[in-house]
Amino acid sequence: MIAKSMAPLLAGASEIRAMFEEGLKLAKVYGKENVYDFCVGNPGLHPPKEVYEAIDYINHNMDPHLVHGYMPNAGYDSTRQCVADYFNRKYGTDWSLNNIIMTVGAGSALCAVMRTVFDPGDKMVVFAPYFVEYANWAYLSGATTVAVPPNEANGFEPDPAELKKILDPSVKMVIINNPNNPTGVIYSPETITGIADVLREAEAEYGHPIYILADEPYKELVYTDQVVPFLPDYYDHSIICYSWSKSLSLPGERIGYVAVPNTMDGFEEFMGALNVANRVACGTNAPSMMQLIVERCIDAQVDVPYYKKNGQELYDIVTKAGFTAVVPQGAFYLWVKSPDENEYDFIKALKEERILGVAGSAFKCPGYIRLSFCIANETIQRSAESFYKVGKKYFG
Ligand SMILES: Cc1ncc(COP(=O)(O)O)c(C=O)c1O
Repeated sequence: MIAKSMAPLLAGASEIRAMFEEGLKLAKVYGKENVYDFCVGNPGLHPPKEVYEAIDYINHNMDPHLVHGYMPNAGYDSTRQCVADYFNRKYGTDWSLNNIIMTVGAGSALCAVMRTVFDPGDKMVVFAPYFVEYANWAYLSGATTVAVPPNEANGFEPDPAELKKILDPSVKMVIINNPNNPTGVIYSPETITGIADVLREAEAEYGHPIYILADEPYKELVYTDQVVPFLPDYYDHSIICYSWSKSLSLPGERIGYVAVPNTMDGFEEFMGALNVANRVACGTNAPSMMQLIVERCIDAQVDVPYYKKNGQELYDIVTKAGFTAVVPQGAFYLWVKSPDENEYDFIKALKEERILGVAGSAFKCPGYIRLSFCIANETIQRSAESFYKVGKKYFG
């Protein structure tokens, strides 16, 4: 018999996963090349050459005990220092390895921070639409999630005034995912400033910190000249969670980190608790070999222009078919407005032409669908005729 606390998680099985299974089924019937599966954010590109070179170097030159052995739970000193140096170079911080804890991807990083911060009864705020796993992780730490409604009128940039309305003394943390999954929007410095101002005011009123958890696995996947704001420049109680799942195409390898600035109140205690959370609840330590690899690939990236081209071409196809979509600024998702009030009808119409996408409801934003474009460019091109057929059904 399972724990009562698991039952709600079991009931809310992932819609993305369900569509993924659907894709496999359709591929069996029509052939893989005739199914246009835009469901999962599972990078289709190979890791950059630096990753293969690092694997080769590590395997041939390093002590197997180091490559595969136990280590301090926070990770290898050299890897943590390498990440700190990256921040120091890029953002002018004065961080050391003590600011960094290596984790089992961003998922575990986020989980560890939630374990560190939440007591039962606390609240976490998210901006809809959002990656729903956040709420599951918070739930496992005893916290509830409240969502600021989607700000469709302002291109899905969060509205600080709406955030203010939702705050109360039980709110301990706010998640900012930038660039955003599922909208592909990059939140502007003005938006971040507005959010920081609202939170500083609330902290003063309630007399306790409200953390911003910056979830940034798409940080390098930027297709405009926008700069992704560096949260610690805007707000002292910022915590950064990152993973190389997308930037190095290593999602199955599970490697990421949490970075905490020196300005955090009670910094030492916070890092101590985070380290314990990582050890006892979030995978013990990050994979050893992966730490040694990312250390050697700190400035490497997947082929970002490839994703940019994919995003532009998919946007052009979808809008030529008559649909309305948000121009992707970052990440690898196209956020499309459903022509049906109920976006599941739209999903069904697309599926009839072998196109698979994920309903906006899966991100707590009905009326939209998400198309992931981290797939082969040829698939996007081949999908055009199917999109045009569906467009004809709706718009004649
Ligand atoms: C917004 C967002 N945060 C976190 C994650 C989890 O990333 P990881 O693979 O590093 O656990 C994902 C994965 O798709 C994501 O889209």
